Amino acid sequence: GTAEENSGNSGTKSTNSITLGFSQVGAESGWRSANTKSIQDSAKEAGYTLKFSDAQQKQENQIKALRSFIQQKVDVISFSPVVESGWDTVLKEAKDAGIPVILTDRAVDSKDTSLYVTFLGSDFVEEGRKAGQWLTEQYKDAAEDINIVELQGTTGSAPANDRMQGFKEVISSNPNLKIIASQTGDFTRAKGKEVMQAFLKAHKDIDVLYAHNDDMALGAIQAIEAAGLKPGEDIKIISVDAVKDGMQAASEGKINFIVECNPLLGPQLMKVVQDVVDGKSVEARIVTEETTFTSEEAKEALPNRQY
Ligand code: AHR
Repeated sequence: GTAEENSGNSGTKSTNSITLGFSQVGAESGWRSANTKSIQDSAKEAGYTLKFSDAQQKQENQIKALRSFIQQKVDVISFSPVVESGWDTVLKEAKDAGIPVILTDRAVDSKDTSLYVTFLGSDFVEEGRKAGQWLTEQYKDAAEDINIVELQGTTGSAPANDRMQGFKEVISSNPNLKIIASQTGDFTRAKGKEVMQAFLKAHKDIDVLYAHNDDMALGAIQAIEAAGLKPGEDIKIISVDAVKDGMQAASEGKINFIVECNPLLGPQLMKVVQDVVDGKSVEARIVTEETTFTSEEAKEALPNRQY
């Protein structure tokens, strides 16, 4: 069947007549590119008609995309919200139109959880904790202050809020671990570099960089090297994602520890879409499984890394 044949109203649909509207955050990072590819490939594999829209990291674009999906009467809407707040109105519009919404990757902070069917994605707080645990272990015998700078993700986004929260929660057990500067690098390499340059100018004694993703860490590495310092040695680096370029830097010892965040959400998403269309009940929260990598572990895993 084609998209035109779909009226959007209920009833059993054969797999190949499902139209899915997906609003993506943007193309800000290696993680995001892998996520987009996973969603596009698996929609194709499932035989769904995918209407894909790139919000270029702007909430207003995403709201527009969602409204357009509603107007087109797609069967299911899925999106990865740029930021956590401000979704109630448009989600209510989808609900009133009878279109189920599946959140992937990032969550919303809406109180009314009936506005979406499920949230499929990582536990970002846990990722922040894992980063903090490694650091706490590394410096458990430190007698003096350890100065940490933090490159945060997009302001107001779930991964930025949660990775900060989980990290702080764990490192607060050791008063020597001090976050001396914290700023957003918007999850991009260019901003990561720019902000790290500013950090290096303002602070002569940085011991650790905690970057909320690999891309910002990779940008920061350029700034650190340009300042004549050795990333991974003079400044220890922790990041999140474990995309290929990050794993490469880790295997070279430039990143000391990476917390994995899995972007390959496509196959699981398509399954949930099918279940929703079939009227089956789905779990309200589906957490993806993830691991961590030291430099040694990154070296081992690198040859088989898909993205
Ligand atoms: O929402 C997931 C985060 O968004 C990834 O960790 C980051 O790289 C991406 O931009």
